[in-house]
Amino acid sequence: AHLWRGVIREYAERLPMLAGAPVVTLQEGGTPLIPCEGLSELTGANVLVKFEGLNPTASFKDRGMTTAMSMAKKHGAKAVICASTGNTSASAAAYATKAGMTCAVLVPDGKISMGKLSQAVAHGATLIQVEGNFDDCLTVARKLAEAYPVELVNSVNPARIEGQKTAAFEVVDALGDAPDIHILPVGNAGNITAYWRGYTEYASVTTGVAGVELPAVATRTPQMWGYQAAGSAPIVLGHPVDDPETIATAIRIGNPASWAQAEAARDESGGHIDSVTDEEILEGHRVLSSTEGIFVEPGSAASIAGLLKAHRAGIVPRDATIVCTVTGHGLKDPQWALRTADGGDVTPVRVPVDAFSVAVALGLDG
Ligand code: F0G
Repeated sequence: AHLWRGVIREYAERLPMLAGAPVVTLQEGGTPLIPCEGLSELTGANVLVKFEGLNPTASFKDRGMTTAMSMAKKHGAKAVICASTGNTSASAAAYATKAGMTCAVLVPDGKISMGKLSQAVAHGATLIQVEGNFDDCLTVARKLAEAYPVELVNSVNPARIEGQKTAAFEVVDALGDAPDIHILPVGNAGNITAYWRGYTEYASVTTGVAGVELPAVATRTPQMWGYQAAGSAPIVLGHPVDDPETIATAIRIGNPASWAQAEAARDESGGHIDSVTDEEILEGHRVLSSTEGIFVEPGSAASIAGLLKAHRAGIVPRDATIVCTVTGHGLKDPQWALRTADGGDVTPVRVPVDAFSVAVALGLDG
């Protein structure tokens, strides 16, 4: 039987940075690439979803945390720190536990989903709420890592991007080649940077561990389409946003650390970075859960919202193969499903304890 061994072992030859490092893993990666018949019919393209919410801590962050934590261990670090809108902190806390290290997380004032917060607490992280937004948290975390013996595990840590590039490898391994278009949400812009690196490496001859020359696996690279939330869309606007706002708290970021790399991914791939409103994000969320059976958090739904927006604008090529990454599981932040399309609350029908009442409530009788 082949047991998935986590991204470092599965892609060891393509992760030279990790050569010789102790492996800290929760067997992350190996997530499903799910064909979406409903979205395909709706858009006229061949749409598949890369469901990153099925990683061990329920977001894509685990791919970069196995590598960042393994490097931290190699460096002899005893403590790690990160700034986070929630998922990074959940992942860092879990992997620090696995590595036998302590973890401190800086989170913005309020606006963090309960699911993510409880993960960090459950894994024993020290939680510090900073009176500011994510960008402020990252500034403080960077300063701390410079001045104190703690390793920074945000995506400015190069090991994070190395680990996250494996998601692009998996897509190509599953499809046999790169898709035409890859769509994903953009927050701090680490993930679009990582996917682009993965796709470009897989489409060229590269140098692997110990200088070994690795052949190209893919014949081409996809267009990268990134989507920011409209209230937090610095790359689209062309300037930082001081007070980022969106219900998609995961991507409530006004000054992305990997801004330049995201623009490079966009331009080199011939893609675009656009924004979607909170209403469009919630529509994407609803369409995905109700037509495909895939439950994601709002931040992740930005990629589906982007696909639907592009379709309405008439720019989705017919029969193109399109992969949408959905970055985090719906149970991270489940409240949004309990709202109706017009903003009301969903309430269950109450019945007494008898089958006839249930049948009536279901419309099976009368
Ligand atoms: N989707 C989810 C669910 C996220 O948690 C994030 C980022 C993104 C998308 C955006 O990815 O930053 O690489 O562009 N979350 C970070 C965190 C900021 O702290 O958990 P990105």
